[in-house]
Amino acid sequence: MSGKRVPTYTTTNGNPVKDPLASQRIGKHGPLLLQDFALIDLLAHFDRERIPERVVHAKGSGAYGEFEVTDDITDLNCADFLSKIGKKTKTFTRFSTVGGEKGSADAARDPRGFATKFYTDEGNIDWVYNNTPVFFIRDPSKFPVFIHTQKRNPETNLKDATMMWDYIANNQECCHQIMVLFSDRGTPANYRQMNGYSGHTYKWIKKDGSFNYVQIHMKTDQGIKNLTNDEAVALSGTNPDHAQEDLFNSIKSGSFPSWTCYVQVCTPEQAEKLKWSVFDLTKVWPHDQFPLRRFGKLTLNKNVQNYFAETEQAAFSPSNTVPGWETSADPVLQSRLFSYPDTQRHRLGTNFAQIPVNCPYHAHTPYHRDGQMAVNGNSGSLPNYPSSFEPLQYRQDINLHEKHEKWVGEAVAYQWVVGTDGVDFQQPAELWKVLGKTPDQQEHLVYNIAVSLSGARPEVQDKTFGMFDKVDAHFGKLVRDATLQRSPRSKL
Ligand code: HEM
Repeated sequence: MSGKRVPTYTTTNGNPVKDPLASQRIGKHGPLLLQDFALIDLLAHFDRERIPERVVHAKGSGAYGEFEVTDDITDLNCADFLSKIGKKTKTFTRFSTVGGEKGSADAARDPRGFATKFYTDEGNIDWVYNNTPVFFIRDPSKFPVFIHTQKRNPETNLKDATMMWDYIANNQECCHQIMVLFSDRGTPANYRQMNGYSGHTYKWIKKDGSFNYVQIHMKTDQGIKNLTNDEAVALSGTNPDHAQEDLFNSIKSGSFPSWTCYVQVCTPEQAEKLKWSVFDLTKVWPHDQFPLRRFGKLTLNKNVQNYFAETEQAAFSPSNTVPGWETSADPVLQSRLFSYPDTQRHRLGTNFAQIPVNCPYHAHTPYHRDGQMAVNGNSGSLPNYPSSFEPLQYRQDINLHEKHEKWVGEAVAYQWVVGTDGVDFQQPAELWKVLGKTPDQQEHLVYNIAVSLSGARPEVQDKTFGMFDKVDAHFGKLVRDATLQRSPRSKL
């Protein structure tokens, strides 16, 4: 052995242990002694190793990296971390699947989460994005019930095609996202070869206080690569952790994945003229009308040292944002502002922001005190109220923007019914045409849907065929034929 110092094994409180594998007992085969604190300490800690897994996005992979501003964007955004070309910000990214448990297969047909924490000089901003530009819902009350249908049947504890398609057929605003999900983009080959999208509309604030609505696109520099349905099914069996392995080994070998970041800009005036609500995240913004403008690059260059400490305990939230980058009135986004820190207080504890992977470089919160696991000094002897004797500065330049935020109306329980704006099936129809431009993509979409839909009850299948008919009559027919071929009615 070299001269390297061998550490001494101790109990949790630092007492040296003679032999951690020799429990104290009476005689050689007699009962244990309660005085054996080393054993009790070890068992008690083991008994508490598991924390709740994320209620969604439980299976994931993380890595550190760097964001660099590549193009001047200061005419559009006044955030400090975007203030000059070449400015770099340290980051932590976690990719995930959505519906499966912590041990589920990476190749599942599912949206992929793409969450990045930027440790800026003005605190952390989190981009909690997916690899799909649209989403299933536009009323947040649907999220918990929609997710239930993606998870397990409460009686059988099985994934349940009837439950899933029953929800889809009765909540057809999800049609656009369902078509993205059942295209081959629903099974990316790995985390490096897929894009990231904000999905939601955010607000970028200019230096003069005016703002634009924006959507963010992160395009993979590795090129998009997807699996076919059959490849994904096979991979789920042979290597359920293939995306974790791919990410870890790429970074370890020095092949750092990167994404070029673009913004789409919609002025408040343009927003008023849109045929759909600017806050409807079941829609994309057409690129010819809202071109992509490049502003940065995200590169992942360092693996975590400890999966639990860093990746599992990472806590992202769309509510973490910096001056110059604001959330919008999108009701789904607004609900997320509540939901993420709420679940994190449950999953990780009140002081989850003190965990190193979540910790901003400079936080000064002397009015927030105590709580379980206050491990950062708890603001020491500083006043825990706005004291006249030790005043703090408050940033006076951070304003609520009342322009375009004047809301008048009566309180209503609003059901955003499908079809009311007349355009709900237009973008799905365009997507069907776009898929037709690449060989096999329409065929794969039909096949991927049929594989899943054939497991649902006939009345649910029929309602779903009707939904695809509204997109394109030929598409609806192809889905009907392919599904019934796999689950012929005569046999039922
Ligand atoms: C009402 C709608 C939604 C609700 C209530 C919701 C709720 C949640 C919750 C509770 C978590 C677990 C967080 C944690 O334990 O740390 C989560 C994770 C996540 N959500 Fe959502 N979500 C919603 C919509 C969305 C949308 C629209 C997107 C993407 C555009 C998204 C992207 C993500 C991602 C990427 C994660 C994983 C973050 C990580 O890696 O830790 N969610 N969501």
